[in-house]
Amino acid sequence: MTDKYVLFGNPVAHSMSPALHAFFAKETNQDLEYGRILVEEGCFKQCADEFFKQGGLGCNITVPCKLDAFTYADTLTEYAKAAGAVNTLKKMPDGSILGDNTDGRGLVYDLKRLGCPLKDAHVLIIGAGGAAKGILKPIIESGVKKITIVNRTVSKALDLAIAYPGVVDGTSYENLSGSYDVIINATSLSLKNELPNIDDSILSKASFVYDLMYRPDGHTCFTDKASSLGVKAYDGFGMLVGQAILSFELWRNVKPNFDNAIKQFR
Ligand code: ATR
Repeated sequence: MTDKYVLFGNPVAHSMSPALHAFFAKETNQDLEYGRILVEEGCFKQCADEFFKQGGLGCNITVPCKLDAFTYADTLTEYAKAAGAVNTLKKMPDGSILGDNTDGRGLVYDLKRLGCPLKDAHVLIIGAGGAAKGILKPIIESGVKKITIVNRTVSKALDLAIAYPGVVDGTSYENLSGSYDVIINATSLSLKNELPNIDDSILSKASFVYDLMYRPDGHTCFTDKASSLGVKAYDGFGMLVGQAILSFELWRNVKPNFDNAIKQFR
């Protein structure tokens, strides 16, 4: 029987994950199928139970099921714990279900691919939702000096900062000043073609800008803004590919080639 993997979420129809994993499987000579399952509200446990009962070996989880998957897992990696969310489940040899989160490591993987100067950098993260929470630990581990989180709801930025005393701090847009080496947009604003309230003077001093959102044409209104100020700026497509590669590696113990996947799908 072919090994089975799947994407759970709602919606799932437009996700690139099945195509990415099919490409990885071909490239690494792995015999597997990767499908998609639309999860109706409140039905994640039922869907996952059924999938694993029928021999499924692993899955990716997208919105709005990442918290359900976190609860579902029997054990959690340190990254899943830090993110408070799970995007990858794996059935272990003893039958238990491991929950991981590869989003943040996928981001750092892409930042390194793009030559982002992370070492000793002061990083500004815009936004303090689930996306921001999920990237903090891997960014810290990449050797940055400091992270500042700016968010409309300041209390959420401060709540995230508390987990990493001395390394992460939180602030409001009004109090934001200074300069940052790397600026990451972790808000959902680009989806609505809106810009976060960051002064051009702050944006233009950065040496690298990244938007976790991505678009087929490779740029968002935020990366456009940064580019217009002469700053290198990238959308989050490589993060999508990066997190998929790391999920695949967790399941299959083989790592697909990053550049080949980017070339194929961008
Ligand atoms: P996710 O979990 O995917 O990160 P989220 O929890 O809805 O999504 O968070 C989205 C982020 O975008 C939050 O930081 C949110 O700010 P608030 O915490 O203040 O809500 C930010 N965001 C969304 N719309 C915004 C807007 N119009 N202006 C500023 N920030 C916004």
